[in-house]
Amino acid sequence: MSLNDATTRIEHVFSGTFAHSTQSAALEILENCVLGVDDEGKIAFIEKDPDVDSLSKIWGFDASERIKLGQYEFLMPGMVDTHIHASQYSYTGTALDLPLLDWLNTYTFPVEAQYKDLDFANNVYTKVVRRTLKNGTTTACYFATIHTDASLLLGELADKFGQRALVGKVCMDCNSAVPQYKESPDQCKAETDRFIIELLKKEYSNVKPVVTPRFAPSCSASLLSELGEIANNNKLHIQSHISENKQEVDLVKTLFQDCKSYTDVYLKHNLLTNKTVMAHGCHLTDEELKIFHERGSAIAHCPNSNISICSGMLNVRNVLNHKVKLGLGTDVAGGYSPSILDAIRRALDTSKALTIQDPEHQTLTFEEVFRLATLGGSEALSLDDQIGNFVVGKDFDALRVNVCVPGGPIDLFPGEGPKAVLEKFLNLGDDRNITEVYVAGRRVLVTEHHWPPFTSIVWTQNQCK
Ligand code: GUN
Ligand code: ZN
Repeated sequence: MSLNDATTRIEHVFSGTFAHSTQSAALEILENCVLGVDDEGKIAFIEKDPDVDSLSKIWGFDASERIKLGQYEFLMPGMVDTHIHASQYSYTGTALDLPLLDWLNTYTFPVEAQYKDLDFANNVYTKVVRRTLKNGTTTACYFATIHTDASLLLGELADKFGQRALVGKVCMDCNSAVPQYKESPDQCKAETDRFIIELLKKEYSNVKPVVTPRFAPSCSASLLSELGEIANNNKLHIQSHISENKQEVDLVKTLFQDCKSYTDVYLKHNLLTNKTVMAHGCHLTDEELKIFHERGSAIAHCPNSNISICSGMLNVRNVLNHKVKLGLGTDVAGGYSPSILDAIRRALDTSKALTIQDPEHQTLTFEEVFRLATLGGSEALSLDDQIGNFVVGKDFDALRVNVCVPGGPIDLFPGEGPKAVLEKFLNLGDDRNITEVYVAGRRVLVTEHHWPPFTSIVWTQNQCK
């Protein structure tokens, strides 16, 4: 007989080591802990050094059925990719030899134009959702393309495979290099309205629309205003790009001469809100960062892309000092890796490169970057009331990590405690170490390891939809 109020049913209980971030600590490691997840996918309790028998009586679960994490296992929050182009996944790992504007015209726009073909879209979008989930991305903030039906399909696939997602139908009415890849301003507004209405009508619990002007050079001033109005009227998220490369910043200066800065372009068109995430921001001035702070807008730091297409090096320390929200993004395919583990490593590399240039620069720590990949990402997407760490009442979005899988990439040695084990996973681990993925309490992926080394993946698709 359970002593808790009879409406809460406990669905999963885990015991062992958990790693997460809090408001005050970049890394908190909880050893000998028990965490319970209720039937709505929310964290019901988390207790350190618990008396499991009395907990099981209070919450009405069978203590013998709890999942006991092994010596080389831990739970961590699911990772958040605050900026990824699902539509560019087909050529990830290629085409990194041109700077941004040429890269867009030569590689990106011709590929994105193909998404009017829904079979093509289905193939790529299925693969990107599966690949990112397998790599521990429980929440993705996606750019799709200008095509409404293919963008809706991306939302459907994220829901089907159980990934939490913000999905953006791309808006652009200016494209002189590849003129077949744009919409008229009227078409763009009408299709954005249709996209939002249709996606919301599906009532997916964890997939929502995000208003997505591609970036200032692709949008007329009147389109930017329309999109600002749509987002604000419907209280929707907004995503775009800002100050990624210097040539782009100069272009924006010539295109929007009445605006004081690139940030001012978005500010004037009501696109900087506390639900806005702007990718890159490598060349933002301190004045502009102050505006980001005042508006509560966020930056998606995409270090792989910033180096791969030679855009710049974002000074994350300076952004954090300005108290601007910041998460990590893969920026596939400007970034060549779909894994946030890679973004963690590249963020540390960039920070160290800045320290090489200026020894006064305070290098980011691995704990801080762990925070950016989890809680920081949830803050950047204004989802930190729902996800990001292990707090009672939040959704259980989590990864079960095993650093000692057969044939895996990590070797451990005597005397290594949980902090070193986490650091090794962040620096050396990969999808082989992520053995289970949970989104809102549902196990959406489980990897079964066998000996001799052979791995099979079981996808647990959403049967309810
Ligand atoms: N700026 C505008 N569009 C894009 C894009 O697709 N990728 C990147 N990296 N920057 C952009
Ligand atoms: Zn991008």
